[in-house]
Amino acid sequence: MDSLLIRGGVPLHGEVTISGAKNAVLPIMAATLLTPEPCVIRRVPELSDVKFMARILTSLGAKVEMEDGTVTVQARKLKPVGNYDLIRKMRGSICILGPLLARQRQAKVSLPGGCVIGTRPIDLHLKGMRDLGAKLTIENGYVHAEAPRLIGADIFLGGRAGPTVLGTANVMMAAVLAEGVTTIESAACEPEVVDLAFFLNKMGARIVGAGGPTITINGVKELHGAKHEVIPDRIEAATFAIAAVVTNGEIQINGARPDHLHAVLDKLREAGVKVERKGLTMTVSRGKQLKPVDITTLPYAGFPTDAQAQMMVLMALTPGLGIITERIFESRFMHVSELARLGADIGIEGPSAIVKGGRKLSGAPVMASDLRASAALVLAGMAAEGKTQVNRIYHLDRGYEKIDDKLRRLGARIERVEEE
Ligand code: EPU
Repeated sequence: MDSLLIRGGVPLHGEVTISGAKNAVLPIMAATLLTPEPCVIRRVPELSDVKFMARILTSLGAKVEMEDGTVTVQARKLKPVGNYDLIRKMRGSICILGPLLARQRQAKVSLPGGCVIGTRPIDLHLKGMRDLGAKLTIENGYVHAEAPRLIGADIFLGGRAGPTVLGTANVMMAAVLAEGVTTIESAACEPEVVDLAFFLNKMGARIVGAGGPTITINGVKELHGAKHEVIPDRIEAATFAIAAVVTNGEIQINGARPDHLHAVLDKLREAGVKVERKGLTMTVSRGKQLKPVDITTLPYAGFPTDAQAQMMVLMALTPGLGIITERIFESRFMHVSELARLGADIGIEGPSAIVKGGRKLSGAPVMASDLRASAALVLAGMAAEGKTQVNRIYHLDRGYEKIDDKLRRLGARIERVEEE
């Protein structure tokens, strides 16, 4: 398994360009199943999750071409069954359920299990499909869905932890071809949901309200091909912003959407970080003095859970007490014990991590447990003195396009150690 070897203590300087958003492109790729016509998606990041989704679409009979950040998909005819082993392996593949049901009126998708960050149920996805008239059964680990007709309905998608991002995407994709009007209440407001709605509307769907808690969808008979450029990855931008601060450097982040990052930028400023915005560019550097802040992760426009682990590294380096409360996923603190190996002093009390910041970090071998935990360990390794080896970096390759190359260009001493 590949690992990253980091020699810490080098301030990062220079410019970095943000890639397309992983969490926008996956549902958009799934949405291409809704039409037999070709769809062209641009600014697609080269990630293992994207390649995985391409393989899933291919296994369902779609023709997929990927070249230089552009993916073309044509799902002229869909096979009744795909490669279920493939579908089972990636949680994000649950978002093919809505498009398959809408286009074929039936679908078989494996029930995704939990993962290290939490149990990750899909009850709300299933509730939405049932409300549209689908009959669902769960057998042998698969969701079997059938709907001779899909009929628009009022659907409430608020759950225990608030709205669901992929659940909103899934129900929206099923409802675009349903008869009549669907209203989703307590819809997720994430920019990735808005980007999907934008793409679906380009395909001929009639969706209004995406980005707010009520989304209204007027069903149409069919959709056509469309071209689309995916939004920049707000979590990648947040990760580089924090990288600038924890290494005591200064990074110009190009091609980002600072308007998708209000909560993160607000917390960074509160922590004493200098952030200058100019159009789609942000320049981030450590200010005069860092201060600890308290953070609670929330659905958009609150502080994103996907930037929690990275922010914890900043708090670990900031003198004083910072409290980080995770409200979206029940066990998203796997990075805490690994950060402790580098010398961080962090305790967990229920959903909160109590960070006693200001300790010097020193390099050590650490193990990545999920995508964002991996990013946090890379940041911590760059801030630590000495050598840090981050193992199991396949997690990182799922969601950060060429992160080691990008960091190296900013001056980081980071190399990929490939294991045969
Ligand atoms: N939930 C339910 N029932 C459901 C669905 C979700 O109770 O049917 C709960 C979840 O257990 C969780 C909360 O609702 O407590 C929010 O989960 P959500 O459904 O919004 O998460 P998701 O759609 O499965 C996406 C991203 C995650 C990101 C979350 C939250 C993709 C592919 N994944 O997951 O991204 O953390 O939204 O913003 O879009 C990542 O990129 O590292 C990542 C994990």
